[in-house]
Amino acid sequence: MRLGRSILACIAASAMLFASHHEARAPGAKGKAADEGAAQAVKTGKEASRLLLKTLGGNMKKRMKAGGPADALSFCSMKAAELTAEVDGRLGEKVSVKRVTLKPRNPANMAEGDEKEILEALEDLKRNSVVLPKYLLQKTESGYKYYKPLLINKKVCLKCHGRNIAPALQAEIKKIYPTDKATGYRMGDLRGAVVVTIEK
Ligand code: HEC
Repeated sequence: MRLGRSILACIAASAMLFASHHEARAPGAKGKAADEGAAQAVKTGKEASRLLLKTLGGNMKKRMKAGGPADALSFCSMKAAELTAEVDGRLGEKVSVKRVTLKPRNPANMAEGDEKEILEALEDLKRNSVVLPKYLLQKTESGYKYYKPLLINKKVCLKCHGRNIAPALQAEIKKIYPTDKATGYRMGDLRGAVVVTIEK
């Protein structure tokens, strides 16, 4: 099982290398249309995921500065879904963006189906000390999915997702998210991914 998933991830990772490689040079006549589709999807995915992370991160930073983690928490819990929907709306009908994870705080962000498999494969790679790629591109029946792995890459993440969350904050989290699974992380852990779905 585990090996199977690792192989899947390797295939996914090499598909991504393929995409990023071909971005840089002119493709041969044969695969041109497909290459262009993939290159365009990567570009769209990059822009959409950046926009989402900038929007969420920028807003949270402001709150942390102004009112500390408790204020930022109440902001996140009230606004993360709304801001995500807002960014999603700005991207047009054929592109959508969201965050998914295997250990959700907000149950709406639970990864399912192929997205769950990709995250599990990324976990397997991490367990084998593989440095994760910046993105993966998956072909789907209706277009592409672009995945940007999200790591616990800043100390501030640990305030709300780590092992020693301040008791008052922890109590607040439990109150708002009774089924919270998004704690116990360490620096460098895989927290989830941004998924950008791109329809043809
Ligand atoms: C102030 C507390 C706080 C901090 C700091 C924080 N988060 Fe979160 N995080 C939350 C809350 C609350 C949610 C649930 C938002 C919602 O309801 O959609 C969340 C959700 C997420 C999700 C979506 C998946 C899920 O579990 O619902 C990801 C991914 C995530 N956080 C990653 C990070 C990363 C990476 C950092 C550091 C850069 C970080 N968070 C810092 C409070 C925080």
